[in-house]
Amino acid sequence: MKIAVFSTKSYDQEYFEKYSSRYEYTFSFFETSLNKSTANLSIGFDVVCAFVNDKVDNDTIEILAKNGVKLIAMRCAGFNNVDLQSAKDHGIKVVRVPAYSPEAVAEHSVALILTLNRKTHKAYNRVREGNFSLKNLIGFNLYGKTVGVVGTGKIGIAFCRIMKGFGCKILAYDIAVSEELVAMGVKYLPIDEVFKQSDILSLHCPLMPATKHMVNKSSLAKMKDGVMIINTSRGALINTADAIDGLAQKKIGYLGIDVYEQEEKLFFEDLSESIIQDDYILRLNSFPNVLITSHQAYFTKEAMDQITLITLDNIHAFEMNEKLENEVS
Ligand code: NAI
Repeated sequence: MKIAVFSTKSYDQEYFEKYSSRYEYTFSFFETSLNKSTANLSIGFDVVCAFVNDKVDNDTIEILAKNGVKLIAMRCAGFNNVDLQSAKDHGIKVVRVPAYSPEAVAEHSVALILTLNRKTHKAYNRVREGNFSLKNLIGFNLYGKTVGVVGTGKIGIAFCRIMKGFGCKILAYDIAVSEELVAMGVKYLPIDEVFKQSDILSLHCPLMPATKHMVNKSSLAKMKDGVMIINTSRGALINTADAIDGLAQKKIGYLGIDVYEQEEKLFFEDLSESIIQDDYILRLNSFPNVLITSHQAYFTKEAMDQITLITLDNIHAFEMNEKLENEVS
């Protein structure tokens, strides 16, 4: 099998090379993202391996199909950037890595909460500069606070387990109830009640038409003043312009995001010597109570091992004509 890996960073290549002896596959690593302008790089490949910000839309898929690609192997859980109908129409199968380490993402969500709350990032810089003042570093106890979780799948469940350990009261909204969480004392409520009662709101549902911009002007109006909002799921769950207004009006007391609506032009790249043309991210960065990480919630050694192994096994199952356990359709 000849595999074209798009949006490759050095660490992706490192992990594919680590497991290169698993199957006799030939990899070509492309740094560029996959989109209609780059899709012709797939000439001569059986499989393309894509990531979260590749634009696998109908235009791209038409070119992949013309070039004889038979499988799109997403090396991530989300597949909101793939036109599944178009893939089906063109006879291309799509596989993904549904679970590689829910704990990695859940733990990063908690890192955002703790950093925003206890301001360890600011304390680190202060102390290194000889400033031992505590002014404006005050936080709050997590113990006894109400945490709202939207989406209680694999990551949401891992997140609830951790927050339970802090002694938080946990409210949840999902279209499907997790009995494990109910048994743990998590209370499912209608989404508006979760918005209304939460001190901290953490988003863990997929991006789809029903969930797009679920944090917006109208839902923000229902939330507590000073609410902390955490999003490690997908950027477009939050309407960025409305979140900026919410921060300016102090409705949002803290915002921690690992994902951003227009991240594909920014994230995973070193743009420190460039003029950033995205005014929303610049405005977000101007707030002292906003913490942005660059889609790194998944990025642990354990998760990278699993992503690589499951991607390789997905490709192998396709090659062997076996049932595709991780097919998305
Ligand atoms: P999952 O499929 O196990 O859980 C998703 C949950 O969302 C399910 O319980 C589902 O019923 C629920 N859901 C579906 N529609 C909903 C709606 N309209 N309202 C509320 N809940 C709804 O997925 P998993 O593994 O927990 O991942 C969740 C999301 O996390 C992924 O879709 C992906 O976008 C994001 N993610 C982010 C990563 C990062 O590095 N920042 C890494 C991996 C995933």
